[in-house]
Amino acid sequence: MSRTPLPYNRKILELFRNPKNLGKMEDATVTAVAGNPLCGDMIIFYLKINDEEVIEKASFESYGCAANIATSSIVTEMIKGMKIKDAWKTSWKSVVEAVGGLPSVKFHCGILAVGALKRAIRVYYEKREVSPGWLPKELTFEEKQALEEEELAKILSNRMKDEGEK
Ligand code: FES
Repeated sequence: MSRTPLPYNRKILELFRNPKNLGKMEDATVTAVAGNPLCGDMIIFYLKINDEEVIEKASFESYGCAANIATSSIVTEMIKGMKIKDAWKTSWKSVVEAVGGLPSVKFHCGILAVGALKRAIRVYYEKREVSPGWLPKELTFEEKQALEEEELAKILSNRMKDEGEK
C-alpha cells in the first residue's frame, strides 16, 4: 500500500528539520509530560521560570510526528520572555496559524504542544500551592487532550485489549 505524504508547508518542514529548543533542560523549574489519546504520542515540556514569573527558557522532547515537533518548537519560541499569565493565553489555533497552517488531521499534534505548555504551567502553581485568579479551575480543552503518562498508558492498553478481542 502506498502512503500519500501529508501536505506540510515549508515552514513546518523547516521547523521539523531544524527545531528550536529541542532537548532536555537540566535546570528546568517545571517539567510536564503530555500524551495524546488520539495517536498515542507523547511530549515532555520544560520551563525555566524566574521569580518575576517570566519564562526565561522553554524546551521540549517530542516522541510525536513532524507537526508536533514543528508546533512544539514554535510554542517554545513564542513564550520565551513572556509572563506565565500571558503564555497561558496561547491557543492551539494561534499556534497552527504561527506554523502557517496544518492539515486538519494534524490539528491534534498542535493541541498536544499547547496542552503540554498549559499542563506545565498548572504543575508550576500546584507545586507552589498557589492558585492565581486568572487560572481557570476547570481544565482547558488543550489540557484535557494532554493526558498524564499513566492515563495515556491505560487508554492505549484498553484499546489494544479491545482490538485483541475483535
Ligand atoms: Fe501524534 Fe502528530 S500524530 S503527535
